[in-house]
Amino acid sequence: MRQRRKISLIGAGNIGSTIAHLIVRESLADVALLDIKEGLPQGKALDLMHASPIDGADVNILGTSSYDDTHDSDIIVITAGITRKPGMSRDDLLMINAKIIKDVAVNCAKYSPKAKVIVVSNPLDVMTHLTYKAGGFNRYDVMGMAGVLDSARFSSFVAKAANVSVSDVNTVVLGGHGDTMIPLVRYCTISGIPVTKFLDKDKLNQIVQRTRFAGGEIVRILKTSAYYSPATSVVSMIKAIFFDKRRVITCAAYINGEYGLNDLYIGVPVILGKGGVQKVIELELSEDEKSVLHKTAGTIKTLINRVMS
Ligand code: NAI
Ligand code: 2OP
Repeated sequence: MRQRRKISLIGAGNIGSTIAHLIVRESLADVALLDIKEGLPQGKALDLMHASPIDGADVNILGTSSYDDTHDSDIIVITAGITRKPGMSRDDLLMINAKIIKDVAVNCAKYSPKAKVIVVSNPLDVMTHLTYKAGGFNRYDVMGMAGVLDSARFSSFVAKAANVSVSDVNTVVLGGHGDTMIPLVRYCTISGIPVTKFLDKDKLNQIVQRTRFAGGEIVRILKTSAYYSPATSVVSMIKAIFFDKRRVITCAAYINGEYGLNDLYIGVPVILGKGGVQKVIELELSEDEKSVLHKTAGTIKTLINRVMS
């Protein structure tokens, strides 16, 4: 009988391999690292195996290109696909990544139909929906990682501007993982104290704008997309599930009725625990926020229809 938990990482590129490294460092689970690029997952797994004695990490790391090796995973993280290049929007990735994700979802479901699945590939909300539909998973088991990252970006800017610890800043960013995301200033606190006690309106507006475009800022500078912060965000979600933490975080969750929306994945605050998305939390939104959320949902639905037809 298998003693340790198992995580399969589909995609052994920047984010997938950084997640693998974090899992090994924290001895969280055995890892199957899968990629279509020959030698990539095998080489990275071997390198991580060599690192494991230094960390005292008694976990197995397998590099593979065969889905058989992902069987009975507790959690699957999907980062397979291509990334944004400078000048490319997340939606430009749509058709290429959709084809990849459909294939990945079907294969993952074949070997681990009950796994919790965290999708990272962009465009995030659409790829999460596609994974759910193509894989035939339970809706509560599939979620997209974006809100943790977008909120962390918001928090990091607030902490810097207010000159306080990042540990004390709490933020919520909901909506689609794109330039129309909604950073909610009125829910931002520093140890429970409204952020407006620390920063004026102009500074907060600048921070909100920078948060919205933070992914693109990295692409512009680095010439590829972020990976340390996305990988760290995924690992925090893995821990919430493994340790049944019931964390209140934002992720792309399946919505059916909440926020006046139906049958799509979009970023909303949830309770995340061993059962996956255990509850969607409905916040009061202003008319403006509601309108942005519904407009974004409309765009996501259009893209879903394009990739599902
Ligand atoms: P990367 O290019 O370093 O890695 C992607 C890997 O997927 C490559 O190694 C590639 O060979 C592999 N791959 C391609 N087709 C495959 C298939 N059919 N089966 C298995 N593997 C396959 O990219 P990176 O930086 O790891 O980013 C991955 C995805 O995450 C991108 O779509 C990117 O846009 C997205 N992303 C999402 C974020 C979020 O907040 N949700 C944040 C940053 C990036
Ligand atoms: C990010 O937010 C591009 O989705 C990617 O960094």
